[in-house]
Amino acid sequence: MRRVAPGIFPVVSVDRRSSTPLYRQIYDGYREAIVERRLHGGQRLPSTRSLATELQISRIPVLNAFEQLLAEGYFESRVGAGTYVASSLPDELPAPDRATPGATPPRPGPRAVSSRPDALLRREPEPWLGGAGAFRMNQPAVDQFPFPVWSGLVARHCRNPQKSLLNYGDPMGHRPFREALAAYLRTARAVRCEPEQIMVVSGSQQALELSARVLLEPGRAVWMEEPGYGGARDALTMAGAQLVPVPVDEEGLDVAAGIARRPKARAAYVTPSHQYPLGVTMSASRRLQLLDWAQRSGAWIIEDDYDSEYRYESLPIASLQGLDRDARVLYIGTLSKVLFPALRLGYIVIPADLVPRFSSVREAMDIFPSTLYQAVLADFIAEGHLGRHLRKMRLLYRERRSVLVDAIRKELGGMLQVRGDQAGLHLVGTLPKGLRDRRISVAAARGRLWLMPLSACFIGAPSGPGLVLGYGGTAPTEIVDGVRRLRRLLT
Ligand SMILES: Cc1ncc(COP(=O)(O)O)c(C=O)c1O
Repeated sequence: MRRVAPGIFPVVSVDRRSSTPLYRQIYDGYREAIVERRLHGGQRLPSTRSLATELQISRIPVLNAFEQLLAEGYFESRVGAGTYVASSLPDELPAPDRATPGATPPRPGPRAVSSRPDALLRREPEPWLGGAGAFRMNQPAVDQFPFPVWSGLVARHCRNPQKSLLNYGDPMGHRPFREALAAYLRTARAVRCEPEQIMVVSGSQQALELSARVLLEPGRAVWMEEPGYGGARDALTMAGAQLVPVPVDEEGLDVAAGIARRPKARAAYVTPSHQYPLGVTMSASRRLQLLDWAQRSGAWIIEDDYDSEYRYESLPIASLQGLDRDARVLYIGTLSKVLFPALRLGYIVIPADLVPRFSSVREAMDIFPSTLYQAVLADFIAEGHLGRHLRKMRLLYRERRSVLVDAIRKELGGMLQVRGDQAGLHLVGTLPKGLRDRRISVAAARGRLWLMPLSACFIGAPSGPGLVLGYGGTAPTEIVDGVRRLRRLLT
């Protein structure tokens, strides 16, 4: 590396072995020296010839760098007198952050932004949501996915794509996919729907955000299951909703408690098939009470049916939407659990009269999700691969659940009481009163056990401590080992 001798300004270094071109190194060196105030406006610069000699390089990169600096206004040339640092540069220039090249650090002082994300930023760290390891929530067994079939279908659509797959399309989504979904939902989930009512979205999270935009003005009250799903809480908070926690008991959402707290809420968010996180199924009488309240008060029901395909002791429970006779339910489903989360594909079944609103808002947001995987999935469903995959995974998850329940009973019998294990990919273990579940979770995360504390699912005061254990993405041997490690942690 050659350095121009100090005293001959500025200190610019060039490294011939670097992959950065020489002209760029000289340009960067000067620009940085000016921005850092090591060079001041009006200071004279060496001639290109003498700088090239000093650096022992050809004159061409020096000329190119000077030309660029002149074009950008860092240098100015005075006829017959040489080149100078531009005298018009302000005295105070922001200093570049050397630790993060490329990023512009903010200057101190007020920076006006929306206050909506503040509530999300204020949260305590949630280490159990990151990384990989035993019992991490919301993880299906992605290694069991039928990749050979999938890649064949992807290749089919990529080799000779229809024009309609490459151009702008319908904000509601790719029509053949919506038709396949409608047939599936009518049969498997007793949802009353036509393809025209189905909007394809990038996961339930977007469905929630979109529903909030269409249904709510800021400040409107929404019933939330307590304990409940943080993703829904976040989406509704971002929409400015006022969250009203409504307790969940063995029959699901306590509708009478909701009515007592906020009878005029605009909407209720529920997971009736498999309550998140407690795992209870909403009873028939609660379903009818909820629908009755919605009809009488003009409220909307957001039904999040996120994992009910996996039910182990009976057939899947029919959707709440299928009981609705007043088109008050928005039914949200996702492929995150059924296939894999990175697909980012889900759907909303929208009451027919709201379709134009949803469609217009969608178009204003991100227009529609990428069409390729929708086309692939249309074939995946129509050719029977989804049904096959679901049957296989139901057996696999049932086995993982049994291994987990047995291991908990054997190793942690007195410590952890299992709840909500009849469906889905997670169960809850309640802990004796007085234990601090968040503290246990933080300690567990250090040892790569991803145990979500039950208390993290409450808006208000938790009813008691507990741990939520995901088993979908945890192999049986890891489950047994994980429970033993948990026993050591708890004792
Ligand atoms: C209650 C609930 N709803 C929805 C989802 C799925 O979200 P998404 O479709 O955005 O991946 C999850 C996630 O894991 C969940 O637990």
